Amino acid sequence: MSRLKNLNSMFNEIKKAAEIIKQGGIVAVPTETVYGLAANAFDENAVRKIFSAKGRPFIDPLIVHIENFDMLNEVAHLDTSSKKIAEKFWPGALTLVLKKKNSIPDIVTAGKDTVAVRMPKHPLMKALLKESDLPLAAPSANPFGYISPTKASHVENQLGQKVDMILDGGDCDSGVESTILISPEISDNGLWQILRFGPVTKEDIEYFLNDRIFVPQKNPAHPVAPGMLDTHYSPDTKLFLFDAAEEIPANFAGLTIHFSRPKTPQNNEYWLTENGDLKEAAHNLFSLLRTLDSKKSSMILCQRAPDYGLGLAINDRLKRAAQKLNMPL
Ligand code: TXA
Ligand code: MG
Repeated sequence: MSRLKNLNSMFNEIKKAAEIIKQGGIVAVPTETVYGLAANAFDENAVRKIFSAKGRPFIDPLIVHIENFDMLNEVAHLDTSSKKIAEKFWPGALTLVLKKKNSIPDIVTAGKDTVAVRMPKHPLMKALLKESDLPLAAPSANPFGYISPTKASHVENQLGQKVDMILDGGDCDSGVESTILISPEISDNGLWQILRFGPVTKEDIEYFLNDRIFVPQKNPAHPVAPGMLDTHYSPDTKLFLFDAAEEIPANFAGLTIHFSRPKTPQNNEYWLTENGDLKEAAHNLFSLLRTLDSKKSSMILCQRAPDYGLGLAINDRLKRAAQKLNMPL
């Protein structure tokens, strides 16, 4: 597993990356969730380069990363309910949808009057925010529709020619994208809503709030044009999901991903975690899917995670990855 080097030894790289950002370039940078592709959130032309590098449609809004509450104040209004959450869960893998300020150009928010904001805790992303002293718009650093990157090599292989620089911070810790939450003061039904499951779990937030969270079927800010949602997070190889090993056909010739390590693993059998640990499974999910996708097998079968905690985020990504061809086995 590749690890983050000593931050001091990366000082020159961080300085160079911040310079690129200030001059309107785009930099791939690790966060505690996945690698992001960052640009100055105030600079419309710089943000346009992100969309172009990813092949991302302009109807899909970006997340703005901030270093501290002063920077937040420059980009969004913090309502009282969201403030409680921000103070508890930031810095970390949680994004809040807030009322935007005029400083943020429409290209970032797909013309909406809200902006998704996150205060990350990864030391390299924090260093880049501090050094550039700018809020950074950063979606995941993958071509639109493919699995998010959790290693610098994932970014290099797919977007290496299209970005100005890649900061290598080793493997991302969580391995799935941030939880997206919207407060009752802003949501369309006056309830707390989770718009995307992620590392900060529904249970954790509900426990803290002592309140139930509503999960809408679709995030209204997510692109819904035909063919777009379907291909989200997809590997190129056909992916099907299963719950119990008995569902796997006896003569199955493709690759199988089990949730936990099987007692007697066969060739072409893989697993997300040794002993059923959800954090380990989430950490490995995208990386394993990428590795198996590169084997160009006829098909991948993947077992769903248990449906609670981080398992909800894993199953959400699996469902999207398999959605294109989600037929029963
Ligand atoms: O962990 C993460 O969140 C990573 C790292 C790089 O921070 N970023 C990430 O960004 O996953 P991205 O672009 O792949 O996902 C952003 C999603 C959009 O697709 C949309 O669903 C949601 O955030 N979003 C952005 N702005 C929104 C808004 N104003 N209202 C609702 N949802 C919004
Ligand atoms: Mg993404």
